[in-house]
Amino acid sequence: MSNETIAAAGSGRPDRSEESTWAAVDEYFSAALVGEDDELAAVERAAEAAGLPPISVSAAQGKLLALLVRSIGARRVLEVGTLGGYSAVWMARAITRPGRLVTFELEPHHAEVARANVDRAGVGGLVDIRVGPAADGLRALLDERPEPFDFAFIDADKASNAVYLDYAVRLGRPGTLIVVDNVVRGGRVLHSADEASEGVRRLVDTLAGRADVDSVAVQTVGGRGYDGFILARINERRSPDSGH
Ligand code: SAH
Ligand code: DHB
Ligand code: MG
Repeated sequence: MSNETIAAAGSGRPDRSEESTWAAVDEYFSAALVGEDDELAAVERAAEAAGLPPISVSAAQGKLLALLVRSIGARRVLEVGTLGGYSAVWMARAITRPGRLVTFELEPHHAEVARANVDRAGVGGLVDIRVGPAADGLRALLDERPEPFDFAFIDADKASNAVYLDYAVRLGRPGTLIVVDNVVRGGRVLHSADEASEGVRRLVDTLAGRADVDSVAVQTVGGRGYDGFILARINERRSPDSGH
């Protein structure tokens, strides 16, 4: 082990050479398997040109979302945190038609960029971008009594993760999958007092206490560093006399 590796080990920070290996391996698999096309690359370029922060999911993560959406034949997808629409385009393409993706975004500028991006990518007809604080938007959506959502991707302000999870469950049905991004945060989830880490721990406590949702956390490394996601699934309802 290099001195740098030893120093990094106790700090929860990876050493630089490890990070560049993660990125290189991510690129290797992505180039071979992910198939990010020109339309998706254009979404990222447009977001960058518009000054949006470079915090969308990676190509591999986008592909994973698309595979999950397609695997369950999802027609209705909920997203919290649109940014420039990169994850939205991955998921919208994978939706079983006719379908709908409703996505919430706080920042009007992000929403504008995303609108142009989903339109250019040819999925604009499926995508409903709602601007404003997601908690308000989700409350309004619930009041519309919509058809249940089959899939949800939660990727906005991490402090509100538990609130968004609760809405996603209420807007879902037994079998609905819910993915929550950025739950590891370089290991900060364990002890850090920042708002985002607190929000992730609150989410984990909520999930641990819920009998109606089953879940797992998966740690990831790659071009976006060391992070991870939670995959949750709404359980079938148990009848009161089923004996379980
Ligand atoms: N899912 C996107 C990345 C989302 S980044 C992708 O992978 O392509 C997180 C986004 O959540 C940012 O655009 C941010 O403006 C938005 N956000 C932050 N707080 C929010 C809130 N309270 N309600 C809705 N969106 C919010
Ligand atoms: C941040 C948000 C994200 O959704 C992400 O994937 C990475 C970083 C952030 O707010 O810094
Ligand atoms: Mg994210």
